[in-house]
Amino acid sequence: METAARTAPAAVIVAIDGPAGTGKSSTSKSVAAKLGLGYLDTGAQYRAITWWMVANGIDVEDAVAVADAAGKPAIVSGTDPANPTITVDGTDVSGPIRTQEVTSRVSAVSAVPEVRAVITELQRTIAAEAPRGIVVEGRDIGTTVLPDADLKIFLTASPEVRAARRSGELKGKDAADLVSTQAALARRDALDSGRKASPLAKADDAVEVDTSELTLDQVIECVVTLVEEKRTAA
Ligand code: DC
Repeated sequence: METAARTAPAAVIVAIDGPAGTGKSSTSKSVAAKLGLGYLDTGAQYRAITWWMVANGIDVEDAVAVADAAGKPAIVSGTDPANPTITVDGTDVSGPIRTQEVTSRVSAVSAVPEVRAVITELQRTIAAEAPRGIVVEGRDIGTTVLPDADLKIFLTASPEVRAARRSGELKGKDAADLVSTQAALARRDALDSGRKASPLAKADDAVEVDTSELTLDQVIECVVTLVEEKRTAA
């Protein structure tokens, strides 16, 4: 006869921040799947609100118009790492949010404080409701959204490696494309790191992992080990 019920591990909140092209999404999804946690792509939420602004004819350079509309769209994120979903007012926008039209505008929209307030509240609610815990990836998760996260990771990689990874995702690219990808990433980094409202930043207590010389599997292994160490220490 069992003498004690086996206790499930306590919910664990993992924040993974860093710029584009560092392997954040692939790492976060795999870590969540391996550990049975939820997964939240906060960049997808900023992309979704940007998609809605564009679809509704709002000039994204007009911060007042963006702020006034920030509370209107209903953004819903599905947190299964095997099938992360995102809808706006019930419409699946997982494809449209990855277009160049959205990518080139998302930094302007995500710099508006009213947008960040709405999306941050959404993120905190999702994290609080995740039964076994969650891996949340973004730019300001460890610093602003979930400052009490159990584990904070900040992923980096050299600009060359990041551009090569991004270009590699698009087949048939040449050297000129690589240069323009690197320039586009640098532009988005500057906007995301330079904005006033919760910029892209490493939290003081985050573990920095430079992924330049690591395979994806090595990065995943490293983060899984860090989570398990935290759980053992708790
Ligand atoms: O991770 P991504 O490239 O899909 O993110 C798209 C944009 O969303 C990014 O350029 C900045 C913004 N973003 C943000 O401001 N804060 C976050 N937590 C996540 C993304």
